[in-house]
Amino acid sequence: MARHAAGRSGDRARAARRPVHDSAPPRPGSGGAQLPPVDDDVPAQAPDDEAPASDDYVDLAATARRQRRSVSRLRALVKHSIRLTWAADRRAFVVTTVLQLFGAAVIAAQVLIVKAVLDAILVVGDGGGVGPVVLPVVLLATISAMVAVAAAIQTNQQRLLSELVLRSTWQQLLDVAGAVGLRAFESPEFYDRLQRVQTNALSRPYQLTQGLVGLVGGLAGCIGLSIAIVSFEPALLPILLLAGVPLFFSTRRESRLEFDFAVAQTPRLRLRQYLGMVQTGRDEAKEVRAYGLTGALRARFDAVYSAYTDDLRVHLRRRTRLSVAGNLASAAFLAATLLALVWLVGQGRVTLAEAGAAIVAIRLLATQVGALFKGAQQIFESGLFLDDLDRFVAMRPVAEQAEAGAPAPASFGALHADSLSFTYPGSTAPALDDVSIRLNAGEMVALVGENGSGKTTLAKLLAALYEPDGGAIRWDGVDVATYSRPSLRRSVAVVFQDFVRYHLSARENVGLGDADRMDEIDAIAAAARRAGIAGVIQDLPQGWDTALSRMFKGGRDLSLGQWQRVALARAFFRDAPFVILDEPSASLDPRAEHALFQSLRDLLGGRTVLFISHRFSTVRTADRIYVLDGGRVTEHGSHDELMARDGHYAELFRLQAAAYLSPEASR
Ligand SMILES: Nc1ncnc2c1ncn2[C@@H]1O[C@H](COP(=O)(O)OP(=O)(O)O)[C@@H](O)[C@H]1O
Ligand SMILES: [Mg+2]
Repeated sequence: MARHAAGRSGDRARAARRPVHDSAPPRPGSGGAQLPPVDDDVPAQAPDDEAPASDDYVDLAATARRQRRSVSRLRALVKHSIRLTWAADRRAFVVTTVLQLFGAAVIAAQVLIVKAVLDAILVVGDGGGVGPVVLPVVLLATISAMVAVAAAIQTNQQRLLSELVLRSTWQQLLDVAGAVGLRAFESPEFYDRLQRVQTNALSRPYQLTQGLVGLVGGLAGCIGLSIAIVSFEPALLPILLLAGVPLFFSTRRESRLEFDFAVAQTPRLRLRQYLGMVQTGRDEAKEVRAYGLTGALRARFDAVYSAYTDDLRVHLRRRTRLSVAGNLASAAFLAATLLALVWLVGQGRVTLAEAGAAIVAIRLLATQVGALFKGAQQIFESGLFLDDLDRFVAMRPVAEQAEAGAPAPASFGALHADSLSFTYPGSTAPALDDVSIRLNAGEMVALVGENGSGKTTLAKLLAALYEPDGGAIRWDGVDVATYSRPSLRRSVAVVFQDFVRYHLSARENVGLGDADRMDEIDAIAAAARRAGIAGVIQDLPQGWDTALSRMFKGGRDLSLGQWQRVALARAFFRDAPFVILDEPSASLDPRAEHALFQSLRDLLGGRTVLFISHRFSTVRTADRIYVLDGGRVTEHGSHDELMARDGHYAELFRLQAAAYLSPEASR
């Protein structure tokens, strides 16, 4: 296992460890790491903290509407899209672009060949032989075939490119999500952005690629057609452009309508999606039935859906009107164009064949203008996603720097937590306040206290998941803030209160305790035996390869207590010198719990153990016990010392003992 060996000085490492979630402007004098600014090309967005999370989209929509109109915004977005696509896969990007340009050239050539065909036909009409027609007709057929072939390759190439951009986006997303500290996940700004990027990462890269390709193709098509026309009569170009005017306006207006509609409906679509999920989700199925919620949730779903379809009707009526108006105007302009053509022909400035080709060009141009606008619209729609992604990706170097430092020693002789204080982001009350504890190597130390007293928070600090706001954790006198956090975590095995149930194979569920040793099946089995779960796993249909989830074919779910043993096995397999168990027995039956704690010293032979438990029968076996209350250590000592003290611990102990002995006492 390669350890982080950045070798930075402790002070710098410490200075770098400011929370990475903070996207607000730096406070004066705060120094240290902060998020780099967003791309300068992009007009400033309203800061996230100005709007509550739920209104985020609405707020972004307003911003988008403002930005959408600006050409410079489009330029910035196009540049950004090209960068993203280029980074995803250069080859696919180049191939797609070349195909687009080729397609545009072919379209332009088509117009020239139509003219040649018409010329030839007119010659035939004048009594000449059929001979001259043959070549242009063959050419026309060939070029039509080429258009078809290019289109087929194009479609598939575009799909591949979209998929590659999608993959690259996900890689970036996962890189950041994995690199940021746990603290980032406590920050609503970070989490909102992560959710937004994640939700959009499924569709936006696709849309973006399509938009970019459409824009490039449409633009090239328009230019190609213009060149073709100009090549036989420059005077035709203004006429051609004139015919495009109504199409230009109606297409642009339609694009805007469509964009506004999509943005306005986003919150509603999210709600609809959520309501659909609640009614189909496995986790929710129990409660939905127990509370008889099917009707109520369904009604809510229907209401949201109806509101959407009502708006959609209105929207589509507007679009239809626009489209009809645009096409009527276009027809009128076309008539005018034709008249102008007739006049030019009468003047002898344009031949009949050129006029015919111009009419074909006008029709083709309409398609290209449409593609151009659709592409631009798609890019605009992806713009907010690009901004989000940008800011999100910018967190990675900051996060990585924050985790850097000298490699930690493999273990410690004594761990001292001195005057730790910690407040969760967004909270006012500290979760830990001036907490000091000590663990000597090989000791078993217990934390007790009521719900919310700060036990789990202290465990997370000791596991190097959070940095204390004040005080220090020292390993043999050295402040661990000077060590790289990943290297510290190598020496710690934690079983969290809310451990993860991986929907993966049994082997992976245990093996992920030390992913580098995943193939050591004997060690994995030994860890499972120690946690008392090996028998259950061996009896599964595919043994160690059985997926511990009903989501997969042949998979099996376990009971909560069995899952807890799997989590324990994972920690045992990690083979770390320092083990933290946060209520590891909460879901175990009394016999299993008794057995676990009886043998814990043997199971973890020689390791340093910090465990959190509400069961005093197990707590009393600890070498030392710390009692937490409201984020402070109120008492500590051995069981006998604490009982003799007759304080909070003694009171809690007697309460539980009495409750076990006589049912009345617990009432
Ligand atoms: N992620 C969090 N964000 C904000 N506050 C939290 C978070 N987790 C815990 N807290 C608060 O910190 C205090 C200590 O919580 P915790 O350490 O989980 O207590 P315990 O494990 O002793 O039940 C509680 O007041 C709790 O509400
Ligand atoms: Mg807890």
